[in-house]
Amino acid sequence: MNILAIESSCDDTAAAVVRDGRTVLSSRVSSQIEMHTVYGGVVPEIASRKHVEAVSGLADLALADAGLAKADLDAVAVTYAPGLIGAVLVGVNFAKGAARSLGLPLIPVHHVRGHIAANYLTHPDLEPPFVCLCVSGGTTAIVDVRSYTEMSMLGGTRDDAAGECFDKVARVLGIGYPGGAPMDQLAQGGDDRKYELPVAHVAGAELDMSFSGLKTASLNLIHNAQQKGEDLDLPAFAASFGRAVSDSLVPRAMEAVRARGYGRLAVAGGVAANSRIRADLTAACAQAGIRLFLPELKYCGDNAAMIGCQGYYEWKAGHTAGLDLNAYATRDISLG
Ligand code: KG4
Repeated sequence: MNILAIESSCDDTAAAVVRDGRTVLSSRVSSQIEMHTVYGGVVPEIASRKHVEAVSGLADLALADAGLAKADLDAVAVTYAPGLIGAVLVGVNFAKGAARSLGLPLIPVHHVRGHIAANYLTHPDLEPPFVCLCVSGGTTAIVDVRSYTEMSMLGGTRDDAAGECFDKVARVLGIGYPGGAPMDQLAQGGDDRKYELPVAHVAGAELDMSFSGLKTASLNLIHNAQQKGEDLDLPAFAASFGRAVSDSLVPRAMEAVRARGYGRLAVAGGVAANSRIRADLTAACAQAGIRLFLPELKYCGDNAAMIGCQGYYEWKAGHTAGLDLNAYATRDISLG
């Protein structure tokens, strides 16, 4: 089954062709980063307009890369939630048009389910059930993946996502946008104990997290140093920040996988590229005898291959949509 998949939930327009869920025939991503860098963050209106310009050509390229004709396609899958609503709408409307004109089924895919499915592309032997730590610019969640299409939240952030925290701190440091990767690079070789940054606990909800306090404490520390004319030890600061984020995520992910008893932990989303988090998870899983699944770096960030993969399993479960499919800025992962 050949699925044309479309992703446009934030600032990447992406199109891919995926066969039977696990074989990526093509995957194209058109990044808008340059466009938004000047503003230090994604401008939703610009993102939507750039998706409109890119999506059709990108779908053609994905088809050509796959060596297929339109007649070889069996379905169209699309991210329909969550995301910047104007941006998601562009992908949804394009997918509707494609499905209608080609007479194909339309498969709606939850963006975070897609991120989780990125692991199936990297690890052909991975099957549910497992626990997945999903960490991106908009999401920080620990998900119970009971089957390919039955999932629920075990814990998550009460405020900012971990990626958003990386991005805001990096913006104030002036080291680039999006800030996660430059912060990660800066942290290499830095003393991660030099700066004490807070790791929040949510009383009564041990798997929940909070990153707004870490963000505020980090920004205060930077501004304080600037006001006093002191030089921050930037590598040490970035390393201390990375440690604080990892110390929030890793113990909770480990506790969740221990409680569910699956023996398998997967990681998903852009922040899953972080070297400190990867190293800490690798060490914790080795010690606890848990098998760890990390997606390839190219499937950590937003892409459409992961949507084509999850789309296949949604289709197998009978989850298709009519042409009245709507887009949603937020949507519980358990709803699909
Ligand atoms: O999954 P993604 O591409 O988009 C969303 O769905 O949000 O994730 C983007 C996020 C950004 O916040 C970016 O700064 C972060 O992933 N990120 C990283 C790293 N690479 C990307 N965060 C920490 N360390 C990295 N190496």
